[in-house]
Amino acid sequence: MAQELAVQDTCVLVTGGAGFIGSHTVVELLQGGYAVVIVDDLSNASVKVLDRIKTIVGDEAANRLSFYEADVNDRAALEKIFSENKIDRVIHFAGFKAVGESVSKPIEYYSNNIGNTLTLVDVMRNHGCKSIIFSSSATVYGDPDSLPLTEESPKKPATNPYGWTKWMIEQILSDLTVADPEWDVVLLRYFNPIGAHPSGLMGEDPKGIPNNLLPYVAQTAIGKRSEVHVFGDDYPTPDGTGVRDYIHVMDLASGHVAALAWMNGKTGVEIFNLGTGKGTSVLEIIKAFSDACGHEVPYVIDPRRAGDVAENYADCSKAEHEMGWKAQYGIAEMCRDSWNWQSHNPNGYNE
Ligand code: UD1
Repeated sequence: MAQELAVQDTCVLVTGGAGFIGSHTVVELLQGGYAVVIVDDLSNASVKVLDRIKTIVGDEAANRLSFYEADVNDRAALEKIFSENKIDRVIHFAGFKAVGESVSKPIEYYSNNIGNTLTLVDVMRNHGCKSIIFSSSATVYGDPDSLPLTEESPKKPATNPYGWTKWMIEQILSDLTVADPEWDVVLLRYFNPIGAHPSGLMGEDPKGIPNNLLPYVAQTAIGKRSEVHVFGDDYPTPDGTGVRDYIHVMDLASGHVAALAWMNGKTGVEIFNLGTGKGTSVLEIIKAFSDACGHEVPYVIDPRRAGDVAENYADCSKAEHEMGWKAQYGIAEMCRDSWNWQSHNPNGYNE
C-alpha cells in the first residue's frame, strides 16, 4: 500500500541506476536524504560510476547506497534484493534504448524492456511494494498535431520497437492501478536529456557511434569524429533543422526527486512531462556547443533520418503546478557541462 513516509525512512530501488539518467538521479536522491539500492547489470554502464557517485555525495550519504549487479529480468536476483532490503519505492530506468538497434532486434527489445518490467512489478507486488516511477519518453507523442505537448496530447503509434516498449509499459503500469487501487504509478515523459554532472565526474558514455545528437557533437568537438551529420535542413522550422526540447540531466534527476516527494502516499497513475518548454534546433545546438568548447564544431547537412519529427517541445506546467518542479538550466549550461565531462573524460569511464 502506498504509505506516506519521511525521506529518511524511504528506501528507493533504482533499476538502471548506473546509467546516464539513473546515476544522476541516484546522486540527487542520496543528497536529498534517501537510502538507495541500485540494481544494474552493467550491460550499458560502467561499474566506475559507483565511485564517482560516492565522491560526489561524500561518505555519510554513500553509506546509504548499495549496489547489486543483476539483470532486472532475473527474478531470483530481484527476490534476493527485496528480501535483503525494505524497498519502499522503485524508480525504473533499466532498459535498452537504442532506437535503430530496436528495429533490427525487436525480440531482444520487447523481451528485455517489457519482460523486466513485468518481473519487477510482480516481485514488487509479492513484497507489498506498489509505488513505481517509470522512465517514459516523449516518443509516445509521435508526430505531434499541435505544440507544446501537454500530458493530454494524444499518444501516437510508435515508429520503432523501442518506442513501443515505452508505450506499452505505460499501458501495463496504468492497468495495474485499475486492477489494484493500492498501486501508485508515476509516468515521467522525458524530452531530450543532455548535459552532465557539473563536477565533470559523471556524464553520458555511449558505446560505439552515438545515435543521439549531443554525444555526437561532443565527440566531434573533441576530435573523435570528423563532423556532425545534420539530419535534414528542409523541415518546416525556422532554420530548417529539427527542433527538440533539450533538458539538463540534473533537472531530470531533480524531477524524479520531486515526483517521489509528490507521490508520497498517493495512489493511482499520474503522467508528467519533463522538459524545459523551449525548442532548440540542431544548428542552434552546434552553435551553443561551439561557444562552450571555444572552437567551431564542423558539420555537414545530410538527408533526413527516417522516423524523425520536425519539432517537439513540452508544456511542463503540470509538473510545476503539481510537484513544484521546473527546469533550471539553459542550453548554454547543458553544453558547458557536456563539454566539461567530455573534455575531462574523452573515453568516458574507460580512462
Ligand atoms: C531519440 C529517439 C527517441 C528517444 C530519444 C532518447 C529517434 C527517432 N528518436 O530522440 O525515441 O526517446 O532519442 O534520447 O531516434 N540529429 C542530427 N544528427 C545526429 C543525431 C541527431 O542532426 O547525428 C538530429 C535529429 O534529426 C533530431 C535532433 O538532432 O532533430 C535530436 O536527435 P536525437 O538526439 O537522436 O533525439 P531524438 O531523435 O529527438
